[in-house]
Amino acid sequence: MPAPIRVAVTGAAGNIGYALLWRIASGSTFGADQPVILQLLEIPPGMEKLAGVVMELRDSAFPLVHDIIATDDPNVAFKDANQIFLVGSRPRSAGMDRADLVAANGPIFVGQGKAIDNSAADDVRVVVVGNPCNTNALIACANAHKIADEQFTAMTRLDHNRAIGQLSKKSGVAASKIDGVAVWGNHADTMYADCTQATVDGKSATDAFEQDWLRGDFLKTVATRGKAIINARGASSAASAASAASDHMRDWFLGTNGRVVSMAVPSNGAYGVPKGLIFSFPVTIADGKYTIVEDWPVDDFAKQKIAQNVEALEGERTAVAELLG
Ligand code: NAD
Ligand code: LMR
Repeated sequence: MPAPIRVAVTGAAGNIGYALLWRIASGSTFGADQPVILQLLEIPPGMEKLAGVVMELRDSAFPLVHDIIATDDPNVAFKDANQIFLVGSRPRSAGMDRADLVAANGPIFVGQGKAIDNSAADDVRVVVVGNPCNTNALIACANAHKIADEQFTAMTRLDHNRAIGQLSKKSGVAASKIDGVAVWGNHADTMYADCTQATVDGKSATDAFEQDWLRGDFLKTVATRGKAIINARGASSAASAASAASDHMRDWFLGTNGRVVSMAVPSNGAYGVPKGLIFSFPVTIADGKYTIVEDWPVDDFAKQKIAQNVEALEGERTAVAELLG
């Protein structure tokens, strides 16, 4: 059996945490033979609820869980952590945009970026889930000077999975037979779920579906799904978000075997996206490292969508300039 890895989860007593921790503990995130030490962070008012979550984790008797640490000190939660899920932050309520959360949530990622820099393992991988996740990842990354930018990512896997879900529903083909979807940009209504290279049971999605649908109702459904869930459930998506966070880290840790997935990562300048912006691209992952797919055919519609997302993210970056280390 490999040595245990240290997995930190912030907001561990929250709704996403409650679903995510059982994925990690059961082995579905890092592999069925990978032991984990869980390092769980909450703010002081959340510590009593976290104590209950820890009781339930212990009551699940997971063979892979070697230890559980519950704390309200980020330096303890991130100590030697190899994998970090930054979830803890406020969700939006009906009528808000995700970007409206930056004033409340942005400052959290200053302190946590610094604590990760001080305490985490050199090989740490960080995924930011808390919204607005692209810009919060930028803030955390900018405040961690020793850790390479590439080690900070944000989650657009939920948008990627939502796109597959919609293609599956429309075609009746199982999600496992749908490939090559790419989500570009910001985890916001401007995101572009690109099906130009997607296949559905081996058939090109652009042959299988009308372009008007792919650029119209499909795109709108994926891009505004978070809002639709808040309106229907009275609460932000949680189980699907936890599932996507688990998928994101599983693929980063174990690789994708050549499959394309979507991750928001620091831009290397690809596709004209300014270097350093945390932008969702199609990536493949091998040996624990993701690579932005090169030479993805980008038509005029995609170029316009990419430009829209760059503009939105540059606007968010300007709005948080004083938090960027
Ligand atoms: P929640 O309110 O149920 O839980 C959040 C938890 O975080 C609470 O227990 C709270 O005490 C804790 N917390 C707050 N500040 C903290 C801090 N500084 N350090 C540690 N913990 C802290 O919310 P949730 O439903 O779990 O959602 C969490 C975040 O994830 C929200 O910002 C939400 O918008 C976002 N989200 C993102 C995606 C995505 O696709 N990227 C999807 C769903 C939700
Ligand atoms: C989602 O996409 O479900 C989350 O980002 C929550 C939200 O505010 O939409």
